[in-house]
Amino acid sequence: MHEKILVTGPFGQIGSELVPKLQERYGKENVVALGHRHIPDDFQGSLETGDVRDMDEMKKLFDKYGFTQVYHLASLLSAVGEKKPELAWDVNVNGLKIFLDICSERNIKLFWASSIAVFGPTSPMENTPQHTILEPTSIYGITKVTGELLCKYYHERYGLDVRSLRYPGLISWKEEPGGGTTDYAVEIFYEAIEEGKYTCFVSQETKLPMMYMDDAVRGTLMLMEAEPDDITIRMSYNHAALSFTAKELEEEIRKHIPELRVDYVPDERQNIADTWPDTIDDSTARKDWGWDHEFDLPNMTKEMIANLKRKMAK
Ligand code: SER
Repeated sequence: MHEKILVTGPFGQIGSELVPKLQERYGKENVVALGHRHIPDDFQGSLETGDVRDMDEMKKLFDKYGFTQVYHLASLLSAVGEKKPELAWDVNVNGLKIFLDICSERNIKLFWASSIAVFGPTSPMENTPQHTILEPTSIYGITKVTGELLCKYYHERYGLDVRSLRYPGLISWKEEPGGGTTDYAVEIFYEAIEEGKYTCFVSQETKLPMMYMDDAVRGTLMLMEAEPDDITIRMSYNHAALSFTAKELEEEIRKHIPELRVDYVPDERQNIADTWPDTIDDSTARKDWGWDHEFDLPNMTKEMIANLKRKMAK
């Protein structure tokens, strides 16, 4: 079938790597990037600008292109969400609802990004199950639980083919994350290479689920290409690869950059990190659509450093 794909948040941490993969697979002319404020000068492809909270504007865009799939990635992350809770609700929930409405009316397959932030202090911290207590304390987590419930509701009530992943902290070198709690796991690479030192905003024993971006993008495409009957979760799939403490990451990077010095000065983001799981059970994703990660901590670290050095040399 001829696909026409819309990506919101196309220049964020995930979008900037997902869009080129979609362009390769479906052709540049069939992938439309919906930018908002920050549009990279070197973007090559089909571009629109707009606000995901504006129903009329979005409907016009859908009329113009006749999309068959949407990847709705536009979202505020956890740390910035605490600074702007109203905006986080508006973008993350009201924005999503517009896409749920339009996609269910027009029978369009929808992907939406959820997060490990749906878990909270009352969720089991180790091997957090797919179905468990969801009592997040951050506004970001609250928007993601709400969004997941809406997705399931639209699937059950209107038959919408909506699919979603609870991404862990994502580690990538192309685009930096914008205001999340897991950002230290990316920042440390930049600072290690540029300065040989880093001040980490969570404690050294903080352990969180993480994933290299290549795995995250591959998982996203696997889920979207799975047969509808194989999808048993219409909230959002637990999606995991590895878990490590900040100290373990420091030690792995030091194998490549021996002079690296890291100080640990936890700030308010520690409070969010403390409520998120250490490890996630993603066996449902593995069973339903064959999810399997490729990158472990040593491979990811090697790739990050090589790619970042190349990028910074330019
Ligand atoms: N990386 C995200 C954040 O820290 C988690 O979804 O906000």
